[in-house]
Amino acid sequence: MTDTVSPGGETGSVELIDVVKMFGDFTAVDSINLQVQPGEFISLLGPSGCGKTTTLRMLAGFEEPTAGEMRISGQPIAGTPPHKRDVNTVFQAYALFPHMTVAENVAYGLRQRGTGKAEMGQKVAEALDMVKMRPLAERKPKQLSGGQQQRVALARALVNRPSLLLLDEPLGALDRKLREEMQIELKLLQSQLGITFIFVTHDQEEALSMSDRIAVMLDGRIEQLGDPYTIYEHPSSAFVAGFIGQQNFFNGKAAGGGRAVSAEGCTLISSRDTTGLSDGSEALAAVRPEAITVTDTDPGGQQNVIRGELAGISHLGDVIQFVVSAGEGREILSRVPRTSAPRLDTGQTVWCSWNADHTYLFTAEQAELVMADPASDKAEVLAGN
Ligand SMILES: Nc1ncnc2c1ncn2[C@@H]1O[C@H](COP(=O)(O)OP(=O)(O)OP(=O)(O)O)[C@@H](O)[C@H]1O
Ligand SMILES: [Mg+2]
Repeated sequence: MTDTVSPGGETGSVELIDVVKMFGDFTAVDSINLQVQPGEFISLLGPSGCGKTTTLRMLAGFEEPTAGEMRISGQPIAGTPPHKRDVNTVFQAYALFPHMTVAENVAYGLRQRGTGKAEMGQKVAEALDMVKMRPLAERKPKQLSGGQQQRVALARALVNRPSLLLLDEPLGALDRKLREEMQIELKLLQSQLGITFIFVTHDQEEALSMSDRIAVMLDGRIEQLGDPYTIYEHPSSAFVAGFIGQQNFFNGKAAGGGRAVSAEGCTLISSRDTTGLSDGSEALAAVRPEAITVTDTDPGGQQNVIRGELAGISHLGDVIQFVVSAGEGREILSRVPRTSAPRLDTGQTVWCSWNADHTYLFTAEQAELVMADPASDKAEVLAGN
């Protein structure tokens, strides 16, 4: 994995160099390399069990790596106990002390360090202001909603202004609407404070919307590291393509000098760079639902046109989703902005079409990875292939 960020010892930088974590003979983290810039918001994204929490726990000091080196702000951290590292962690379960008030919870770490009363009062007030919880400072955790409790947990982690904050699915316990609000607030807070965030999630939309860069992980490795645009538009493997966003996958054989895949009676043509595809070999084509247009007339003579029957229409807020049945169990998903969606009825004959720029081609080895991953949230997209 190459990285454009130069190694640096600036406050808030993080470096993982060939970091390995074994539990017995099981490799949970498999030689990870990652350089995080000061003030960067980086997400670790991947299916359950891929090693996200283990990576955070090593940075926090709750686990020691089996091999490799880790540095925070340029300093090697091996052997440094958790409370001596310039880092705090926020977990999914907020773990507030139930018998203490909000203010006492936030003050806890400062009190442990023997911070003076006046300074402590001021720091706690500042931290509670950051998360808009000062009016509720005297409440106990059980008198708060889930979102409010998570804000307190955040204030507690920020009160001593660490250079690095590790967040392990911090919004996982919140309902969708609150979660989306907190995503915006958290991102805003992070950019205001300039603290480096390493944020673990298995929610790809959350990672896409909040991160400067995303490390997509699988089986203890980083599959791809890049900014959200690159990860979405230029997935380096079928796994990344399938895990980030939705895909229509087509199994078939490479054709056309490695520029096409013949699958299920149709040929999917790509104008993208493809590597390692030789004609006749097993291959996989992927097309995102939002790249596919559905029309009630034959667009005629184009590449990448599939005829079918409109099997379903779903209204997803600002987007309409069409499900087109193209025979033999093959279903094609299309998503069109509401304002430009055609008026169609289920049962009618329709044509799916897309530009060759939007066909991704992968080798069979990469395809197997997607197919074999039972933990992937996207497994259902593959149904019918
Ligand atoms: N203390 C441990 N002993 C043995 N195996 C462990 C231990 N901690 C984690 N593992 C294993 O290491 C792998 C990675 O676990 P980890 O908790 O890092 O996954 P994760 O990516 O955070 O998953 P999730 O999204 O479910 O939280 C898993 O297979 C897990 O079972
Ligand atoms: Mg985890």
